[in-house]
Amino acid sequence: MKLREEEIKEQICDIGRRMYQRNMVAANDGNISVRLGEHEILCTPTGVSKGFMTPEYICKIDETGKILEANGNFRPSSETKMHLKVYERRPDVKAVVHAHPMFATAFAICGIELTAPIMPEAVVNLGPVPIAPYATPSTEEVPNSIEGFLADHQAILLANHGALAWGKDLMTAYYKLESLEFYAELLYRTCQLGGARELNQEQLEKLYEVKRKLGL
Ligand code: 13P
Repeated sequence: MKLREEEIKEQICDIGRRMYQRNMVAANDGNISVRLGEHEILCTPTGVSKGFMTPEYICKIDETGKILEANGNFRPSSETKMHLKVYERRPDVKAVVHAHPMFATAFAICGIELTAPIMPEAVVNLGPVPIAPYATPSTEEVPNSIEGFLADHQAILLANHGALAWGKDLMTAYYKLESLEFYAELLYRTCQLGGARELNQEQLEKLYEVKRKLGL
C-alpha cells in the first residue's frame, strides 16, 4: 500500500516516538528520512527531540540536500549527507533511520562487530552488522565512512557513534534497527552468562538455504 505524503510524515513522528520510548535516542539524538521519489526526501529536523515531533516539523530536501520545504525555524537534520549517501548507493532503499541504541552503541564504542551467528532470526533477517570507521558527525567524513558497507548489508554500526539501518520502507528500516539492538543486547547478556554457543557451519548452511528460498 502506497502512503500519501501526509501519512508518511505521521509515520515518521510515530517512529520517532517509538525510538525515544525504547531508549534508542536520548534528548535530540537520531534522525529519520523517507524517499518520496527521485528528487524528494522527507527528513526530521535538526536539534529537536525525535520523541515529540508533529508532522509540521518534517522537512523536505532534494537528492543534493537542497531544502525544498521547512516550516518556521526547522532545518533538515545535520546528518542528511549520511542519509543521502544511502539513497545514492541503494536505489531500492526508501527509508533510513539513525539512532544511538544503548547496547548497539556500546558495541560500536568497543569496536566489536555484531557478526557472531547466535540465533536464526539474526542470520536470516539481519545478517552480519559491521562497524564503519569513526567519522566526525555532520561532516562529509560520515558518508565516506559508510559507503563501502551499503551494498552488502542491511544495517551498520558507526564507530563511537551509533547505528544506521535502511529498508524498502520506513517500517522495514525501523525493524532492522530494533532487531540490531535486540541482537546486540543478546550478545551482551550471553557474554555475561559465559559466552554464546554459536551456530555451526551446517546449521548456517541450512539457514542460508532458507534465506535464498525467502528471496532475502
Ligand atoms: P540531528 O538532530 O541534526 O539530526 O542530529 C542528531 C544526531 O544524532 C547526530 O548524529
